[in-house]
Amino acid sequence: MKIKLIQGDMEKEIDIYSAEGLSLMSDLWTKVSCHNRLMYEPTWLGIPIIQFPEDIVMMQELIWKVRPDVIVETGVAHGGSAVLYASILELIGRGRVIGVDVEIRKYNRIAINSHPLSKRIALIEGSSVAENIVAETRERIGKDDKVLVVLDSNHSYDHVLKEMELYSKMVSQDSYMVVMDGAQGLVWDIPNGKPEWKEDNPLKAINNFLSKHPEWEADSYYTRMHITSNPTGFLRRRAV
Ligand SMILES: C[S@@+](CC[C@H](N)C(=O)[O-])C[C@H]1O[C@@H](n2cnc3c(N)ncnc32)[C@H](O)[C@@H]1O
Repeated sequence: MKIKLIQGDMEKEIDIYSAEGLSLMSDLWTKVSCHNRLMYEPTWLGIPIIQFPEDIVMMQELIWKVRPDVIVETGVAHGGSAVLYASILELIGRGRVIGVDVEIRKYNRIAINSHPLSKRIALIEGSSVAENIVAETRERIGKDDKVLVVLDSNHSYDHVLKEMELYSKMVSQDSYMVVMDGAQGLVWDIPNGKPEWKEDNPLKAINNFLSKHPEWEADSYYTRMHITSNPTGFLRRRAV
């Protein structure tokens, strides 16, 4: 079966069962899914989580493999992702989530704090790149804690690059920093997208960061489902 792609003046037929077809169909689904805001649909244990289902499954795999003592997440929103991470830690039997958000809305805070997994979640309100917030986050991490970081706050290039520089230092060797929403660079041209996303996106920050930090590598294992908002966003800190 073939699909005919017509984009501007370009017309091309692609076999949907080829590697190119898989890549194209995944990109097209990502665009259609974002256009229909499907990533706002899921909930995790009762709390809205803003993720693609495939990324939720990949985060579960990653946390189960790394078995971190601490997961630092920037960008909490309703708290569904913090509860997701806490729920996997609960199954492992130890670990906690530190969630940082510039604005933790009253009803989101109430929902998170009254959730059965709240015992594993601490919230810090403030900008993830503010000196005092970074310091407070660091203070809550023990010297020997195995740390995994998830960056999912402001998705502009400048902010993400700043966050990567600040939070990468907290990540343990052989653990990960997951940089979310690199797909912003893919969906800039959808009807409700923004032309500036083409250049201003987390993927560019990831590429810049990787070019300066050979101790980090992108792990494509966690993007093997193809549908992901985090292309090249699962970054492993090499053990040296
Ligand atoms: C995409 S949502 C996070 C989604 C959440 N991680 C999830 O999976 O459900 C982005 C969040 O980042 C927060 N945010 C925006 N700028 C920020 C900043 N400078 N520092 C910390 N959080 C920020 C917003 O308030 C918003 O709650």
